[in-house]
Amino acid sequence: MAVEVVDAVRRQGRSLSQALPRAERQLEPGPARALLRERVYGLLRYAPRLDAWLDALVTQPLRARDAPVARLIQLGLYELFFLRTPDYAAVNEAVRLAGLLGRPWAARLVNGALRNAQRREAELVAIAERVDTARFAHPEWLIDRVRADWPEDAEAVFAANNARAPMTLRVNLAMTDVSAYADLLHGAGIAASPGLYAPDSLVLAQSVDVEALPGFREGWVSVQDEAAQLAAGLVNALPGQRVLDACAAPGGKTAHLIERAGGKLDVTAVEIDPDRLVRVSETLERLGLQAQTLAADACLPETWWDGKSYDCILLDAPCSATGVIRRHPDIKLLRRASDIEATVLRQQALLDALWPLLARGGRLVYATCSIVLDENTHVVDRFIQTHADAIEWPIDADWGRAMARGRQILPGEGGMDGFYYACLHKAGT
Ligand SMILES: C[S@@+](CC[C@H](N)C(=O)[O-])C[C@H]1O[C@@H](n2cnc3c(N)ncnc32)[C@H](O)[C@@H]1O
Repeated sequence: MAVEVVDAVRRQGRSLSQALPRAERQLEPGPARALLRERVYGLLRYAPRLDAWLDALVTQPLRARDAPVARLIQLGLYELFFLRTPDYAAVNEAVRLAGLLGRPWAARLVNGALRNAQRREAELVAIAERVDTARFAHPEWLIDRVRADWPEDAEAVFAANNARAPMTLRVNLAMTDVSAYADLLHGAGIAASPGLYAPDSLVLAQSVDVEALPGFREGWVSVQDEAAQLAAGLVNALPGQRVLDACAAPGGKTAHLIERAGGKLDVTAVEIDPDRLVRVSETLERLGLQAQTLAADACLPETWWDGKSYDCILLDAPCSATGVIRRHPDIKLLRRASDIEATVLRQQALLDALWPLLARGGRLVYATCSIVLDENTHVVDRFIQTHADAIEWPIDADWGRAMARGRQILPGEGGMDGFYYACLHKAGT
């Protein structure tokens, strides 16, 4: 299953969040699911290194349609060098699986490659030290980009992107409070501690299946990284206000905004992808919250806006997602350098289109889960330069770092995902 999921990402360009849940549903929650996840994440996270090793071990290139054999060899390598699988099991199981993948002819090839890897371990280690893409396990364009934008922090960023992310919860304040929920977790034998920066958060010592969380189905709690939870505090929507969440799916931040206001917000949640909008409705339903949901293009308000201005707007813009690679390692394989330019244009268009919808004296929070300067501080700076009534509201916080505009959290800082925030006020009262 791990080989199939990784193949779906690498050959068909599917996202991990599409491909993995489909496979996971075929397994009972528990150790088998956890192991599938570990293998899939490992194969994607270390793909650039495993590719370099494969090239060294298999000199005859495989045909495109035999890519699953390449993934199978890489799974064996991952078992040998990253997991505690006994060597004989790693090799024998991979060889056996060649038949299961409908390619019995590949058994010899898999066996040869993995036995070679055991013999030539020192050479593989040298590749992992000498070649940057293998060493940092990132594609070249991303290494260049991170080095250009974050010369001092690049290696820490690569390491954080390759680390396992914590499972962080957000307690639904409309239903319970953090200390009461922490007691419930304790009673269920789940170790957790309050997050450092997000007041409604609890960080679990170990990931668990959501079904094991007390009251999950009843909406007492959601899974959301601390960095993402900072959005609602920055928007700071007050009960009774009219709020637009312009890029809403899957609805984590929409829900948090409403929870913080005790359920008393007039929220419009816009999402361009109708399938993803369903997830916003599901999120709200589970949490017992209400909002108006619209499948629409936020860049074209004339097609959906009722003409009444909003007190607050959250623009959690589509982005390169380079801040959340530790949770979505498929980004390393699916994104291209050229995607960034298109994303920046979309971010600019969204800001330009939504600004007129904000009331005078209102607040717009621009957020991305990117660490690319062009998508963050540069977008906001260009916007302020071209909009006389846009005033930056400095974020006074103990998280992240102040940028020319807004604030940036790099991945792993404070244990959080990489995120960027800027607050803009509209002049006038
Ligand atoms: C970063 S995600 C939002 C995450 C969400 N705010 C949350 O916290 O759960 C960006 C979303 O914007 C949507 N999107 C992209 N372009 C859009 C547009 N022009 N109008 C509305 N939504 C858009 C994407 O489909 C994606 O679901």
